[in-house]
Amino acid sequence: MIIDATGRDCVRLAELHALAFADCWSAEAFGDLLGSPGVQALLAPDGFIVVRTVADEAEILTLAVAPAARRAGLGRALASKAAEVAREQGAARLYLEVSAKNAAARALYAALGFTEIGRRARYYADGADALVLSLGLS
Ligand SMILES: CC(C)(COP(=O)(O)OP(=O)(O)OC[C@H]1O[C@@H](n2cnc3c(N)ncnc32)[C@H](O)[C@@H]1OP(=O)(O)O)[C@@H](O)C(=O)NCCC(=O)NCCS
Repeated sequence: MIIDATGRDCVRLAELHALAFADCWSAEAFGDLLGSPGVQALLAPDGFIVVRTVADEAEILTLAVAPAARRAGLGRALASKAAEVAREQGAARLYLEVSAKNAAARALYAALGFTEIGRRARYYADGADALVLSLGLS
């Protein structure tokens, strides 16, 4: 089950984020994020996604699935639902940034039809490039 996260879910969002990323985002940071215009978090028991829609463009801000729950389709379900939500809110394109070294996420986004539209050289702390990916929603 995927639900719309609210302020009450910020601790869980931070826990799930910490299981997936070295640079953890605090519960307070999620509280601030959820209070920002156009931001929506979709939460499942073992993962979540945050998407921001502004006018006709949307961006996936983060996506995480707990390690024990991976390769069971949750990441795909969350990203698909985020695309649906963004489309319903008027977005024509969905964007995201992903590390060139993140093979799992790149494979997931490729499977969903995202294509590379740009690259930021040595964008991440580990020296990896950021790939800018985009998906048409219409
Ligand atoms: C990326 C991530 C969200 C994927 O979540 P997931 O629930 O395991 O993904 P799914 O099970 O829905 O996988 C969907 C498809 O993506 C691809 N994929 C996912 N993980 C993969 C991996 N480790 N290796 C290769 N392909 C992979 C496959 O094509 C997969 O389909 P299949 O299982 O039928 O082969 C998860 O690995 C994660 O949380 N990683 C750490 C955080 C992160 O990198 N977030 C994205 C930042 S942009």
